[in-house]
Amino acid sequence: MKCFGGIKTKRTIFITFTFKMEKLPTHIIDSFGRMHDYLRISLTERCNLRCMYCMPEEGVILKENGKYMSKNEILQIAKCFVGLGVKKIRLTGGEPLVRKDAGEIISELSKLPVELAITTNGILIDKYLNMFLDSGLKSINVSLDSLQKNRFKELTRRNQFDKVMSNINLLVENNFHVKLNAVLIKGENDDELLDFIEFTKQKPVHFRFIEFMPFDGNSWDKNKVVSYDTIIEFAKSKYGKDLIRLKDKKNDTSKSYKIAAYAGTFAIISTVTNPFCDSCNRIRLTADGKIKNCLFSNLETDLLTSLRNGENIESLIYESIWKKKAVRAGMTTTDEFTSPEEHRKNRSMITIGG
Ligand code: GTP
Ligand code: 5AD
Ligand code: SF4
Repeated sequence: MKCFGGIKTKRTIFITFTFKMEKLPTHIIDSFGRMHDYLRISLTERCNLRCMYCMPEEGVILKENGKYMSKNEILQIAKCFVGLGVKKIRLTGGEPLVRKDAGEIISELSKLPVELAITTNGILIDKYLNMFLDSGLKSINVSLDSLQKNRFKELTRRNQFDKVMSNINLLVENNFHVKLNAVLIKGENDDELLDFIEFTKQKPVHFRFIEFMPFDGNSWDKNKVVSYDTIIEFAKSKYGKDLIRLKDKKNDTSKSYKIAAYAGTFAIISTVTNPFCDSCNRIRLTADGKIKNCLFSNLETDLLTSLRNGENIESLIYESIWKKKAVRAGMTTTDEFTSPEEHRKNRSMITIGG
């Protein structure tokens, strides 16, 4: 697989990189033997919501347009990753669907031999429904942090609850595989836990409760985290024997459950109290063309500039993943992970893409 950009192809690349291997591997593996076959591409840093746990009310300062990957650059880099064994691509943001050429990008990526998925806030789903159906994009994760209209507005700082709910229904009616993401925050929406679980009674959706994670500028506080244990104790006390633990997929970030006879399922993503890094297979590509080898890593590898210089980006990819730490970018203890200092060096969530 040749991963060169532009026409100024240079083959001097292997000499210039410090990553030394006799022969470059055919798959992306880190120093702990974890195979990386799942790429998350952020299409934009812009968003049409302002979720309080993700970004400041005034938004984030955007770079000039030329600093972001163009459609063709995204496709070129994605093809390179597919050549290196990537089997799944998830599009993220900001909100990926606010990007004007999102439809063209989805349509082109759907021609690659990968499972294509998207994480969205749901507002624009009706506009894209037919193109999702045409391109075979069936897995859609939608953020839904409240089932109450007024609270949704408070949490997202926008009045879009009805639109998001009607679009979730549209996805269910059209047999999409729908996961709903709720970041649980103590004192904000944790009183809705029972309502969220009850939502799965009639609807065949997979609701995920996410432990609130610290990122630059998101006013994180460990007392606001609703832990995996708290959620399970609560569910046990309500449902007793009807609470059933399900088998998780190999690289799942979540632990899955269902209530007997309910149409849907639910799960918990416990990054704070119980990280799941042993099975991590994820690589992130930011909208400005940098790879992050971990959600919490502040080390970034600039693929876009190298691609534009006509260089081969393959060895940069290997090198970045090889440097990946075992757990949460090296923050192994809860104390390290919960220290605000550790997160100040990382991007805010909106510019990573979840
Ligand atoms: P699938 O497993 O493909 O369905 O996707 P996902 O659940 O990883 O994706 P989604 O974008 O819906 O993210 C849901 C939550 O999981 C978000 O809060 C993400 O930040 C978190 N998450 C996604 N990937 C990782 C990861 O690599 N590490 C950690 N710790 N959290 C992650
Ligand atoms: N902690 C946990 N999850 C978060 N997300 C955004 N910010 C945070 C945070 N601080 C989630 C959103 C979205 C997904 C991509 O990331 O809910 O569904
Ligand atoms: Fe936008 Fe998603 Fe961040 Fe909410 S969580 S502000 S929808 S990127």
